[in-house]
Amino acid sequence: MDMFKRVNFGTDGLGLNAREYATLLHEAVTARPFPADFYSNGGVIEEIEKAFAECLGKQAAMFVPTGTLANHIAIRKLAGNDRRVLVQAESHLYNDSGDCAEVLSGLNLIPLAAGGRMPMLDEVKQWVERSAHGRVEMKVGAISIESPIRRLDHQMVPFAELQRVSAYAREQGIRLHLDGARLFNLPQHSGRSVRDYAALFDTVYVSLWKHFNGSTGAILAGDASFIEGLYHTRRMFGGSLPRAWPNVALVPRYLEHYAEDYARAWQSTERLIALLEADGRFRVRRIPDGTSRFFLGVAGVAPDVFSQRIASANVYLPQAIPDTGEFPIDVNATILRMTPDALARIFIGAIG
Ligand SMILES: Cc1ncc(COP(=O)(O)O)c(C=O)c1O
Repeated sequence: MDMFKRVNFGTDGLGLNAREYATLLHEAVTARPFPADFYSNGGVIEEIEKAFAECLGKQAAMFVPTGTLANHIAIRKLAGNDRRVLVQAESHLYNDSGDCAEVLSGLNLIPLAAGGRMPMLDEVKQWVERSAHGRVEMKVGAISIESPIRRLDHQMVPFAELQRVSAYAREQGIRLHLDGARLFNLPQHSGRSVRDYAALFDTVYVSLWKHFNGSTGAILAGDASFIEGLYHTRRMFGGSLPRAWPNVALVPRYLEHYAEDYARAWQSTERLIALLEADGRFRVRRIPDGTSRFFLGVAGVAPDVFSQRIASANVYLPQAIPDTGEFPIDVNATILRMTPDALARIFIGAIG
């Protein structure tokens, strides 16, 4: 199969396969005298840390090998001795991190905003007050917010709600962490910059392997005093990879154009949606406060037959949802590998 040709509607970034990744890695390390890191310090790692700190408007940043560890290290340090941490019930930190913060850092994570319930602020206030008035007085040390929310189809938390929670937390002396694994998609949908978001939080995590095509990796950004010495904690958790550079060597290349590429991907997607809707047999369902995902239903063909036919034209669709038969479509820059008109012909032709 040709390299760099597939349109993949099931990935955050380009979904590079091993051969594609190795090809680009070779390009990256031969394009200049390539600065390797040592134990995740210096070299290209330091370049990436500086670039993200600058983009996010933070003083400093640290590479962490996974987002799971970035979230954990962040709330561990932000909470300090105030061990109650408010999190969203639907967040990665609460559901998909194996209770690492409870087991390894002695934190008490309290889940709020189940199902994306808004406003969050009411629940935040209730827990802060309830903690202060228990038989043993407790303080909430930190609040962690994920946006976009992966488990809610990448729905975003409205910016105004983040502002309210942030203002209240600061008034109460509670520290704030943003799980912004996919933060760089938000400006396209909310009109707010990544800096606007980062400014509401003490620390921000951004994934390096979702939008920026690393093989793994995360950035944790914050004040210089927060980041200083934090690499000891990273190492304590086994997270200082002796050679991290092969994981992130492609990141600078994709960071530079991400916002433009994502905006162009949506332009193309809108054209594709218009062509499919004009056909009459496709149904598009958008998500309120949505970001990169929409749902596509197709009449007149079984979803698995449809996706097999599409796959033979080098277009990948994720598994349809069993109840509705709809495909959860993730918008990313691979859509730019074909014209929307060519894609529409493939989709329409696959109904048979
Ligand atoms: C919102 C969110 N936070 C955190 C993570 C964890 O990232 P990692 O897989 O790099 O540990 C993920 C990744 O799957 C995620 O979607």
